[in-house]
Amino acid sequence: MTADLAVIGLGYVGLPLAQEAARSGLQVLGFDIHPGVVGGLNSGVSHVDDLSDADIAEMLDKGFRATTDPAEIGEAATVVICVPTPLAEDGGPDLGAVNAAVATVAKVLKPGMLVILESTTYPGTTDEVVRPVLEAGGLVAGKDFFLAFSPERIDPGNPVYGMKNTPKVVGGQTPECTRRAAEFYGTFVDTVVQARGTREAETAKLLENTFRHVNIALVNEMAKFCHDLGIDLWNVIEMARTKPFGFQAFYPGPGVGGHCIPIDPNYLSYNVRAKLGYPFRFVELAQEINHGMPTYVAQRVQDILNEDAKAVRGSTILLLGVTYKPDIADQRESPAVPLAKALQTMGAEVQFHDPHVSHWTAEGLDLERVADLDAALAGADLVVLVQNHAQYDGETITSTARRVLDTRGKLPQAESVEHL
Ligand SMILES: NC(=O)c1ccc[n+]([C@@H]2O[C@H](COP(=O)([O-])OP(=O)(O)OC[C@H]3O[C@@H](n4cnc5c(N)ncnc54)[C@H](O)[C@@H]3O)[C@@H](O)[C@H]2O)c1
Repeated sequence: MTADLAVIGLGYVGLPLAQEAARSGLQVLGFDIHPGVVGGLNSGVSHVDDLSDADIAEMLDKGFRATTDPAEIGEAATVVICVPTPLAEDGGPDLGAVNAAVATVAKVLKPGMLVILESTTYPGTTDEVVRPVLEAGGLVAGKDFFLAFSPERIDPGNPVYGMKNTPKVVGGQTPECTRRAAEFYGTFVDTVVQARGTREAETAKLLENTFRHVNIALVNEMAKFCHDLGIDLWNVIEMARTKPFGFQAFYPGPGVGGHCIPIDPNYLSYNVRAKLGYPFRFVELAQEINHGMPTYVAQRVQDILNEDAKAVRGSTILLLGVTYKPDIADQRESPAVPLAKALQTMGAEVQFHDPHVSHWTAEGLDLERVADLDAALAGADLVVLVQNHAQYDGETITSTARRVLDTRGKLPQAESVEHL
């Protein structure tokens, strides 16, 4: 074996893993089906926010190499699969990339190899979907090769918690599989926690994501009635969070984006419904509430303009921040998209600004960032703070814009500012 580790899928999850493993001295090979990704990495260019070109250069220095050649995976002692798990058209899990990656690994599986799935998926995937394909060639999991699931907990843009200092959960097909997977991660992650099995590790990830999904939905629903009752929910949350135990603050917003919150909990609810025939009601309710937030924000825009005796049709509305999280360029599932589309449908002239996005194209949207932020702030009939990027100065926005709807609770109280 010439590589200690082969990482399959070099995206937001796979690349930081490859980086940390390479840093700890492991010989790391990266495999991806996307030739652009592989070519870019081999020439020192990063395509994910959390890694700079300098980080890639450091990895290459330490022996990292990317490839599109599946045969090379067979050279690795451990294979970690980090491919996407999106939703299919019907809202169910789309395991196409996982199936393809596992089939690729099955062709080069060798005795003694450790195979770990990190892609977020429904409970039972490792045992019911991955294992049979790997075992089809005659090798048996737990005996001839080792199989485990370890949920990825990467939080893009988080300056404190990265791969190394975020505890890693591992659950193996057998106790020996768990032990080997824990030993592997222990070489470059500070804390490894052993789950009872693959299903517990798979479900732990979905519990973490569902917990956030449900709690965000809770405050989003409260935002609506607090507004109607004239109660400042942001202040309510500040008060509640002074309790040092039994409470964790979550904040309302224009909707949820990224992968973990809007998509992953659906894997669990789909699985519960498919296997047991009954719904996972919390997930379905949270989905409904969070999904409805962009429409609710559009309604609030309409109400504010109405107070100013203006129609949405023909008004210029400037959206600030269109990524799904602050201070990163990632736009996956960003609620700014349905918000912009709802406003356009109502006849608004939608403009946008985002320090991380110069050209915004999504689902029929095709907009250039405003060239002069101050001029756009002053010129818009209404400014909506959609994403709370650190670069946005609350005082400047408040003093320059005529009217602002702050969906993030960032701006100071002012005559011109309304909070969600
Ligand atoms: N991004 C996050 O913040 C995050 C956090 C926790 C968990 N996850 C989970 O991790 C998994 C990966 O997510 P990501 O954000 O890294 O995705 P990503 O889209 O950033 O990267 C996935 C990479 O896999 C490649 N790929 C697709 N099919 C492949 C195949 N058959 N063989 C090899 N490579 C293939 C793609 O070309 C892409 O480069 C998902 O299950 C996701 O739910 C993501």
